[in-house]
Amino acid sequence: MGFSLFLSFCYIWLSSASQTSTAATVVSDILRPNQVLKDGQNLVSSGQRFELGFFSPDSSSSSNRYLGISYKNIPLTVVWIANRNNSIPGLSGSLSMGSNGFSLFANSSVAIWSVNATAVLKSPILQLLDNGNLVFREENNGDSEGYIWQSFDYITDTLLPDMKLGWKLRNGLHMYMRSWSSANDPSVGEFSFSLDPPETPQLVLRKGTQKRNRWGPWDGARFSGSAALRSNPVFIPMFNSSIEEVYYTFKIVDQSLLSRFVVTQDGLIQYLQWSKNSNEWAIMVTLQRDSCDSYMVCGPYGNCYDGPKCECLNGFRPKSPVDWARVDWSGGCVRKWELDCGNGDGFVKYGGMKLPDNSHLAASRNLSLEECRSVCLGNCSCMAFTVIDIHGNGGDCVLWFDDLLDMRDFSGGGDDLYIRMAKEELEAIADAKRDRRVKVIVTSIICSVTGMLLVGIIGWYTCRMRRARRWRTAESLNSSHRDFTEETQEEDLELPLFDLETVSAATDKFSFKNKIGQGGFGPVYKGVLPTGQEIAVKRLSQNSGQGINEFKNEVIVIAKLQHRNLVKLLGCCIQREERMLIYEYLPNKSLDNFLFDETRKKLTWKMRFDIVMGIARGLLYLHQDSRLRIIHRDLKASNILLDNEMNPKISDFGIARIFGAEQTEQMTKRVMGTYGYMSPEYAMSGHFSVKSDVFSFGVLLLEIISGKKNWGFYHPGHDLNLLGHAWKLWNEGKPLELMDALIDESYSENEVIRCIQVGLLCVQQRVEDRPTMSSVLLMLSTENAMVRQPKEPGFVTEASSMGMDTSSSSGKNPYTANEVTVTILDAR
Ligand SMILES: *[C@@H]1O[C@H](CO)[C@@H](O)[C@H](O)[C@H]1NC(C)=O
Ligand SMILES: *[C@@H]1O[C@H](CO)[C@@H](O)[C@H](O)[C@H]1NC(C)=O
Ligand SMILES: *[C@@H]1O[C@H](CO)[C@@H](O)[C@H](O)[C@H]1NC(C)=O
Ligand SMILES: *[C@@H]1O[C@H](CO)[C@@H](O)[C@H](O)[C@H]1NC(C)=O
Ligand SMILES: *[C@@H]1O[C@H](CO)[C@@H](O)[C@H](O)[C@H]1NC(C)=O
Ligand SMILES: *[C@@H]1O[C@H](CO)[C@@H](O)[C@H](O)[C@H]1NC(C)=O
Repeated sequence: MGFSLFLSFCYIWLSSASQTSTAATVVSDILRPNQVLKDGQNLVSSGQRFELGFFSPDSSSSSNRYLGISYKNIPLTVVWIANRNNSIPGLSGSLSMGSNGFSLFANSSVAIWSVNATAVLKSPILQLLDNGNLVFREENNGDSEGYIWQSFDYITDTLLPDMKLGWKLRNGLHMYMRSWSSANDPSVGEFSFSLDPPETPQLVLRKGTQKRNRWGPWDGARFSGSAALRSNPVFIPMFNSSIEEVYYTFKIVDQSLLSRFVVTQDGLIQYLQWSKNSNEWAIMVTLQRDSCDSYMVCGPYGNCYDGPKCECLNGFRPKSPVDWARVDWSGGCVRKWELDCGNGDGFVKYGGMKLPDNSHLAASRNLSLEECRSVCLGNCSCMAFTVIDIHGNGGDCVLWFDDLLDMRDFSGGGDDLYIRMAKEELEAIADAKRDRRVKVIVTSIICSVTGMLLVGIIGWYTCRMRRARRWRTAESLNSSHRDFTEETQEEDLELPLFDLETVSAATDKFSFKNKIGQGGFGPVYKGVLPTGQEIAVKRLSQNSGQGINEFKNEVIVIAKLQHRNLVKLLGCCIQREERMLIYEYLPNKSLDNFLFDETRKKLTWKMRFDIVMGIARGLLYLHQDSRLRIIHRDLKASNILLDNEMNPKISDFGIARIFGAEQTEQMTKRVMGTYGYMSPEYAMSGHFSVKSDVFSFGVLLLEIISGKKNWGFYHPGHDLNLLGHAWKLWNEGKPLELMDALIDESYSENEVIRCIQVGLLCVQQRVEDRPTMSSVLLMLSTENAMVRQPKEPGFVTEASSMGMDTSSSSGKNPYTANEVTVTILDAR
């Protein structure tokens, strides 16, 4: 009390004393003892990035004032508030520094907020740093460990780069985000977003006290089940868990970019970036992707997939089949066989999962999988375990007690979970496995005979293919140690096998009327499974000796991939002479039908842009984000399929290549690909890299904008191909003339021009001049991204795009020129 009186006294004294001297609006970035910041004045950080001052959320009124930190040079965007629950009615607010603390006064007599040091300070200052942190410290101690107080510890609804979401364990400080109540009311709203609990940290969004979304625990690379927060060239997420603190934070490489996470008033977690061109915040990522992210949609032991559908995990059945049939999944699933503790229970492994809620860390740290298993086995209420790397020490044994809640299928990047099962279930699995073993021996022999001509590894994969089974199929870990490790190594390639009869019946014996296309290596049929599911069957021509390699390649590549912009492989059929791939059926067929067909349907600009973004995301996944790194090598309009919502899906991995993490370029003697889409270095010398895919993407992008094919492009005024034509228009300053006349009015000129510019950058002659797919995505999606000026593209005439003299191909009607998939044997 005495202190605040003293402060008030100081304040009165100061405000009368300094009335004349502090008339300027900007004080500096520092407030010293006995200085006062009044409404109308600002502290500005040294790099002019942030400012601290009084504001009203509703700019039309000057009542309800708050002291907050906002960006300096853009329209009011508040990132932190001192008095969010406690507004100041008029312009009388002030922040005043005392000798041992500081206080926010609503008016000369009422302090509504104050911070004091416990120890006596020599020369304290309050400073606004250029990362938006307001710190109270000793002037001669700039070390962040020595801050007496910092605003970063008291997050409002915004997480800035360097801010930590999490816990300081020593003093129990919990730093988490809370939404505003409404657009004009920053007081604490309904939603909170936090990292908890500290031992097995998860990201949790709550409405009040109820969980709405949950991702976690941290598995060494990400929060289990979350995809969006991964590292990329501009954005670096960080997670740290030690005895001192547990936190999530992120850094931005390009310091000129403004970006932040925010929890909105409706409970969405968004990552935003400031767009200089359109002068607004662009939403880059929303953490909630689909309804499988909603907390516990499928009930206990339910597994959510394809947002939202629910299935019971293997070994479980719906608790209430009636409700389940009515798609009321909330009751979840129960065991087929009850557990009988200590009496033959064992564990079954489920791969590709988002881990369940309510995990616990085993008492002893750093256990192996085997040790963790016996800890879990030893406690009857332990229902599941896994080993993940929460603390960066190689492995933490994580246990689950009671029902397993809030799981989802996450085949692309999920974790392994070992679930306790009753003896009967394990026996059923062991029986099924014995049957499979017999088949394996038989098929291995066949494999080694037919595999003689094949590269060893492919043969090996094929043999494994034959042992294929539905992914997530249960594996018993109960038997012996040897069995245990064997099974852990074999998780990779698991794909359903269809039998020939099923596929034949589905396609009406491969009848002509069901044929929907002809791929490079054989016909494609539409079919309907007994379940009603529509499928596309790609059948290898039996006489195509070459196709078998490509077939195997495709199986190996795509079986490991899962992404919404890649076509989904449902299974394969290898029986007698038949080799078939079974895909999901996409009703809208391929993109070329929409782009180049005479009778094409109209694609609006928005649809085209969404298609471009989808392809770019799919390609980025192949190049960088998937478990494998893959070069597609045959990206073209006819290999982009469209689902009924016109989402693009990349297909045809017949000649794709897997490349190692350290490997950036490969060479081939057999150049395969499609005229018009091949990059110069690939067509001419067989060198390919992710940048050759970028070239093809650039061609595709320009085709999507122009509605014209690159290969077979015809213009009465010159003999350039589409790339040359686009470059010519770009140089002449009329890029918009490239646009397809069928594009409706509702396009943004800036966006189209940016797309053309990015397209031209992708088709640059020199590999080094082409951007990577991650920068392509960034450039396409952010208006303010710096996009370089393109130079002349590679292959500006059709003849040059074959890497050879092609006088013979001229004179054809350009719009009916067939697309040719070629194989050029290198002459060397
Ligand atoms: C600051 O110190 C004064 C007097 O010592 C006390 O009344 C006030 O409650 C303190 N404020 C905080 C936030 O600790
Ligand atoms: C604001 O009020 C909420 C509850 O109404 C409380 O939980 C929170 O701590 C308060 N925040 C501040 C910064 O005073
Ligand atoms: C000072 O502010 C408080 C709360 O904001 C208000 O209740 C009080 O009437 C004000 N006093 C003066 C003298 O303005
Ligand atoms: C994590 O935090 C500890 C202590 O706070 C620190 O020593 C360590 O360097 C941090 N690790 C990373 C990866 O930032
Ligand atoms: C099993 O684990 C639970 C949760 O940690 C604990 O409460 C219980 O005492 C344990 N039971 C035995 C028999 O160790
Ligand atoms: C954990 O165990 C592994 C091998 O079992 C060992 O290499 C590693 O150093 C251990 N880590 C810690 C922190 O004890």
